[in-house]
Amino acid sequence: MAKDLFDAAKAALAFSHSPYSHFPVGAAIRGDDGHIYSGANIENMAFPDGWCAETTAISRMIMGGAKRIAEIAVIAEKTPLCTPCGGCRQKLSEFAGPDTRIWLCDDTGPQRSVTMAELLPAAFATDKLT
Ligand code: THU
Repeated sequence: MAKDLFDAAKAALAFSHSPYSHFPVGAAIRGDDGHIYSGANIENMAFPDGWCAETTAISRMIMGGAKRIAEIAVIAEKTPLCTPCGGCRQKLSEFAGPDTRIWLCDDTGPQRSVTMAELLPAAFATDKLT
């Protein structure tokens, strides 16, 4: 994984709005257009209305015009190699393929990667939504 993706995920930590959990998370997606879209978690006083760093990054990717996730890096300030939560796995899978790499990072860089298929085996899929 190129360092620019890690640097973007780490830089995103500074934008985390997490006054309730005190658990800043940063994410950075490389889109199929080659651009990097970063995001941080944004919490809300009404707890269920907050959202994750990956979700922010996906939103920025879609509104930036990219269609697919080439790779993504995730970093949490307090938990090395933090993996995306269940809801984010589903959201990521909408725009990723089974071989898309998710880079798990610590403070110094990416330490491990997992594929989308490893993160979300037996993902929900149907051709009946018409
Ligand atoms: N969080 C993320 O941003 N991404 C994840 O994949 C795991 C959890 C955030 C949500 C919440 O703001 C905080 O971490 C604690 O759960």
